[in-house]
Amino acid sequence: MSDRKTILIAGGAGYIGSHLNRTAHERGYHTVVYDNLVSGHKSAVQWGDFVLGDLADAGQLRLTLRHFRPDAVMHFAAHFCVGESVDDPEKYYLNNVAATLNLLRTMREEACRHFIFSSTCATYGIPRRIPIVEEHPQAPVNPYGRSKLMVETVLADYAAAYGLRYVNLRYFNAAGADVLTRIGEDHSPETHLIPLVLDAAAGRRPHVSIFGTDYDTPDGTCVRDYIHVDDIARAHLLALEYLFEGGESGSFNLGNGRGYSVKQVIDCARSVTGREIAVIKGPRRAGDSPALVGGTEPAARILGWRPETPRLEDIIGTAWAWHKKRFC
Ligand code: UFG
Repeated sequence: MSDRKTILIAGGAGYIGSHLNRTAHERGYHTVVYDNLVSGHKSAVQWGDFVLGDLADAGQLRLTLRHFRPDAVMHFAAHFCVGESVDDPEKYYLNNVAATLNLLRTMREEACRHFIFSSTCATYGIPRRIPIVEEHPQAPVNPYGRSKLMVETVLADYAAAYGLRYVNLRYFNAAGADVLTRIGEDHSPETHLIPLVLDAAAGRRPHVSIFGTDYDTPDGTCVRDYIHVDDIARAHLLALEYLFEGGESGSFNLGNGRGYSVKQVIDCARSVTGREIAVIKGPRRAGDSPALVGGTEPAARILGWRPETPRLEDIIGTAWAWHKKRFC
């Protein structure tokens, strides 16, 4: 019998999940994407098996786990827009919390014990200190962050009671695309800064709005730590190997440890694309933290993770190549 391991990727047709799928496939894993295609794209599932299914559908989940017998589940299937979560929190609690409970229950019933969870730096809320370390108090300021923190809490309890073994990966801002432009960021509607800025560069929208210019940051705009999606994907496999080798359940930040303001991102995109990008100053967006920058020493020390594409211009460069392929 082959010792090739199988990973079930919930939300594997989405942005980060599809990059994990490609990376896992390249590393020799058998992957099974489980996705309802509500926001993911079938065209992004270019590797492994695919099951069209919803996490709320316990019957379908059970059949899938029984059929493929995965060694681990990686869970990317969530709503992720901070502003929307403030306007429609129920959508976030039903999908990000209730559907995840369904997944965990089915995993327990089917004796699948390894779980990698897509968590977020939004669980920290407004940081008291930057860079944010994993021990920083978690006090999210929006329902999106609270929904992710609730699952982190559930995981700790399940680990203690049922022997689940898990890693929470708290991403900072995922950005960039596959270097061969096979997959990339494709949300509808798009709300994330970098693709919106690139839309403006491509002439697909007249300008970018800067959400708030009066924050207590060096240039008054929000600061974020942008991390290449492929670096996030590699961290998942390192976290999984760590669990397989007996590592303790826990949480790791995934960022570059360097913050860029909204204005700096726009300037960088002007330089990478060589295009004009018009901006207008708008009001703050509800639920935004002024600055989120990660300390990532434990991921380096314990998982052996080091970002391979840490420079913002390279991150934006891969996103621009993907953008041009589709729109220019
Ligand atoms: N922004 C603008 N104009 C826009 C869009 C965004 O100024 O048109 C600003 C936002 O206010 C924020 C920054 O750009 O300050 C980044 O915003 P994004 O929407 O790109 O990303 P967020 O920081 O809100 O959220 C993202 C993910 C979350 C994750 C979070 C961690 O969507 O899943 O990063 O910071 F939790």
